[in-house]
Amino acid sequence: MSQATSEPADPFMFKHRGIYFPTEFIVPEYIDSLEHFEIRESDVFLVTYPKSGTIWMQQIMSLIFNEGHRNGTESIENNARVPWLEIKYPTMDYNSRPSPRLFTSHLPYFLMPNDLGNKKGKIIYVTRNPKDAMVSYYHFYKLMVKASQTENMDDFMENYLSGRVFSGSWFDHVTSWYTNREDFNILFMTYEEMIKDLRSSVLKVCRFVGKELDEQALATVMEKATFKNMKHDPVANYTFIPDDVLNKKKGDFLRKGTIGDWKNILTVAQSERFDKVFLEKKIKDLPLKFIWDIHEEK
Ligand code: A3P
Repeated sequence: MSQATSEPADPFMFKHRGIYFPTEFIVPEYIDSLEHFEIRESDVFLVTYPKSGTIWMQQIMSLIFNEGHRNGTESIENNARVPWLEIKYPTMDYNSRPSPRLFTSHLPYFLMPNDLGNKKGKIIYVTRNPKDAMVSYYHFYKLMVKASQTENMDDFMENYLSGRVFSGSWFDHVTSWYTNREDFNILFMTYEEMIKDLRSSVLKVCRFVGKELDEQALATVMEKATFKNMKHDPVANYTFIPDDVLNKKKGDFLRKGTIGDWKNILTVAQSERFDKVFLEKKIKDLPLKFIWDIHEEK
């Protein structure tokens, strides 16, 4: 484990191979061991930078793959259906899980199992416009009991822009996954396209993972994946996370669920500061289309 000496110590996170991780859940040696994690052809990984629609896609994958889940006959949480690759749960043995295995991860591409880079298994990468992702993260940090709190958005934004938050820099995460995409069997999706056209998004996922749903099953996936329904679905909305990890009295995991909330939160100066960094990082050169406003065309 390497903690940069010039930076103030933070009891809640550690820096490993350039990325910050939460001390509470992640063990650096375990992350390193994932290099040799054995991948099956049928494995599907959901990869995101935090607050990009992870639990939404977790819910969609869970529904696509599990008939019982669609019928409402299963109460297994999505976290158990689509568990986090980088967390070593004492009760789960990934090697003995039946295929197809589904996983979730916030890891950067260079910490993923080697076999994925040999095009074994599939990856669905969901990204979101970074202003909305940042605003969502700002609120989420307030809920996290084991995370150092910032005074205000100005401070949080500086941490976000420099990657001094769990999972590091949004810019590095998205850019490096995208520029290394040829190495993986990967489908890029955006939170915004899911908001604009959930049906097409679900069908896209189905085609990618080779699952065909009849009209009724498709309708059920869409219904159970709406913001309203997920908010009341304890299997989907992470209500199972204990209060000493997530203080749900301070807010909900499913908060606004829309495009462009950053306009309600960021000041003009903050937005301009963000744009400046966005331009410097050359994200606009990637052929990824970010939608910044709910009224913008897809
Ligand atoms: P907001 O905080 O902007 O509301 P993640 O799962 O990666 O942590 O992302 C959380 C964000 O996804 C939150 O954004 C949450 O509300 C949003 N989200 C989750 N489920 C959603 C759904 N069914 N429809 C729209 N947004 C959803």
